[in-house]
Amino acid sequence: MTKTALDELREVKQIDLRSVFTTDPDRLSRYVLTQGPIRFDWSKTHLSETVMDGFVDLAEERNVAGWRDAMFAGDAVNVSEGRAAEHGAERGEGAADSVARARMLHGRMRALVDAIEAEALGPVRHILHIGIGGSALGPDLLIDALGGSGALYDVAVVSNVDGVALERAMDRFDPGATIIVVASKTFTTTETLLNAASAVNWLVEGGVDDPFGRIVALTADPDRAMEWGVDETRILPFSESVGGRYSLWSSVGFAAALALGWDDFETMLEGAAAMDRHFRLAPPRANAPMIAAFVDQYYARVRQCQTRAVFAYDERLRLLPAYLQQLEMESNGKGVTRDGVPVEGPTAPITWGGVGTDAQHAVFQLLHQGTILSPVEFIASVEPGHALDPAHHRALLTSCFAQGAALLRGRDNADDPARAYPGNRPSTTILLDDVTPESLGALIAFYEHRTFVNAVLMEVNPFDQFGVELGKEIARSIAEEGPKGFDPSTMALIERAFGGM
Ligand code: F6P
Repeated sequence: MTKTALDELREVKQIDLRSVFTTDPDRLSRYVLTQGPIRFDWSKTHLSETVMDGFVDLAEERNVAGWRDAMFAGDAVNVSEGRAAEHGAERGEGAADSVARARMLHGRMRALVDAIEAEALGPVRHILHIGIGGSALGPDLLIDALGGSGALYDVAVVSNVDGVALERAMDRFDPGATIIVVASKTFTTTETLLNAASAVNWLVEGGVDDPFGRIVALTADPDRAMEWGVDETRILPFSESVGGRYSLWSSVGFAAALALGWDDFETMLEGAAAMDRHFRLAPPRANAPMIAAFVDQYYARVRQCQTRAVFAYDERLRLLPAYLQQLEMESNGKGVTRDGVPVEGPTAPITWGGVGTDAQHAVFQLLHQGTILSPVEFIASVEPGHALDPAHHRALLTSCFAQGAALLRGRDNADDPARAYPGNRPSTTILLDDVTPESLGALIAFYEHRTFVNAVLMEVNPFDQFGVELGKEIARSIAEEGPKGFDPSTMALIERAFGGM
């Protein structure tokens, strides 16, 4: 059997991180890359020159540059659905006609932002954004990270079909001063439509005479939104070729544009566009998303690590791990290649994580001494997000850097193995200048492209998500036809919860 590129990478002798900077004093200068507001440091990983070269060869073999250019050209890189993947066009980087259309749709979005600001829809203090998955995680992240106490409106993002989520938001808001934003690419998602219907009832019960006058829809299927009752003038469409988990740049970011102001939303797009250009133009050894994907591939597929941990050492980025879970796992949690044959070896690891320093006091024990190896990513900002005593930020950053150092260095203890740390554990660090619209746009685009490169290296399609359909179908059939033909466990659960339905 011929050896694959991965087999060859699996045979490369592993370096020991504990001595890596002694044996290679120049390593830091070669394993840190600064791109705009982002500094990416992968020096504390097991990637060596041989491994890097191996991945550069693999990227060539798998035609990463070709797929990247095809994506930006608007070709149907989502092969299973015959669609383009044009989130780049939303930032001005893509096929000319797609960029022009995105600009035109952003123009409509901006006009509605201005109209709401001018109270053309009545007085507005609250924005209730309803959506789920890619139609919620992105705007939620942007508003939480950049809005803070300076947000122009009080925004709630409600996703869960559990009425508790919606009820809590409604309890905080005055129906007479609320705009309801319904975000759904397909405008068919059960959770979103049920929450939206309950929100309309709440407006009616709250004495709003024309409830649909206060509803804005963000969708790639305007006809469905209209059928549902939304007025055409308050539908902000986006292109079918923008995937749900890549859609925060489109009208799906409407609540963020309202809460942060249009200028910040636009700056966020520009930050992403700068990362797009870097990804398009930089050679592999100087290309941040490509190198980050090499690191990911090394741990997931060469070292077979089943998880990848992401810790935001910045309260403003506390929603980033959840955002990345969808981006990475829904994109690359696949079993077959674009051609439908089983992928050789594992695909996307489980992305998990949290916020530092909290996570240190909860889950880091396993990372330091547990038997499972998980690469860790730290994300931090040089500038603090508050005006309190600088001691807070110093303590935060010191803790972050100390964790990476401890994972790397470890500590022997011949007398008491329970107090020994093996070390030689990898981490990457992303240090931002600050958390700003520009840096957050660049950071999210960096992760999008990194996810894409991972997909191309594995030959999977990152732009479909058929794996989520079966559960939805079964739930629909239970709702429509009652419980029939399921396994005894499922039947008993249904019986216990609903009786005879
Ligand atoms: O079920 C998964 C999914 O299709 C995601 O990919 C998507 O982001 C989410 O549901 C919401 O879909 P929609 O925007 O169509 O409501």
